[in-house]
Amino acid sequence: MTHLDFSVNVDHVATLRNARGGTFPCPVEAARIAVEAGADGVTMHLREDRRHIRDRDVERVRAEIAAPLNFEMAATEEMVAFAERIRPPYCCLVPEKRAELTTEGGLDVLRPGPFLKQAIARLRLAGVRVSIFIEADPAQIEAAAALGAQAIELHTGTYAEGPVEHRAAQLARLKAGAAAAKAAGLLCHAGHGLNYDTVADIARMPEVTEVSIGHFLISQSVFEGLGATVRRFRAIMDAARNI
Ligand code: PXP
Repeated sequence: MTHLDFSVNVDHVATLRNARGGTFPCPVEAARIAVEAGADGVTMHLREDRRHIRDRDVERVRAEIAAPLNFEMAATEEMVAFAERIRPPYCCLVPEKRAELTTEGGLDVLRPGPFLKQAIARLRLAGVRVSIFIEADPAQIEAAAALGAQAIELHTGTYAEGPVEHRAAQLARLKAGAAAAKAAGLLCHAGHGLNYDTVADIARMPEVTEVSIGHFLISQSVFEGLGATVRRFRAIMDAARNI
């Protein structure tokens, strides 16, 4: 099977930095270490409330890290204008609510806000490849394609974080979603809640071209080291794809 791109989300390095209000640990340094250890890209989510990643972190990753940035953002005027300025190669549109702990569900593209279509068109015009974080629902996937997205990111949270006895059914839903994405001519990414135990099932899906992993990876690196954690994920994914 083909290589699975692995984008490391460094948001929670910024969470730790912000806990003490200083400059350490630095998410850009984490991005550098992750890429040196075999990550194919870096993911950052610039939230409206700037609770972890800040504007300057994104600017620095664009300037200092050669690996592609997957820029997660809400479809708002502020974020589209920011993306037009820094021109990340990839952008993933996510829903955002101030009170949530993390991105709680996929974007509902069957009921898109008035700005979504324009946001996608503007990002594409700026040379950004647009992905939308959605549930593995064929109707959502077709709607994402109709809106002009080039990729979707399947929300793996219900599969990865739900009860173990529901995993087989959730995995079947994700597989059907990946097949629907391919049929709609979309690239298929996946992410949310993945860890050493759950990533292999996702990596075995041939339609999935990229995974994005953050919270478990950054947390596990407290015990194992960031480079070692990235290398272990890489080995699990490569084994799952028979590489
Ligand atoms: N993909 C998207 C769109 C996300 O919003 C997140 C969480 O920030 C992730 C992937 C990564 O999820 P996790 O941090 O649980 O690995």
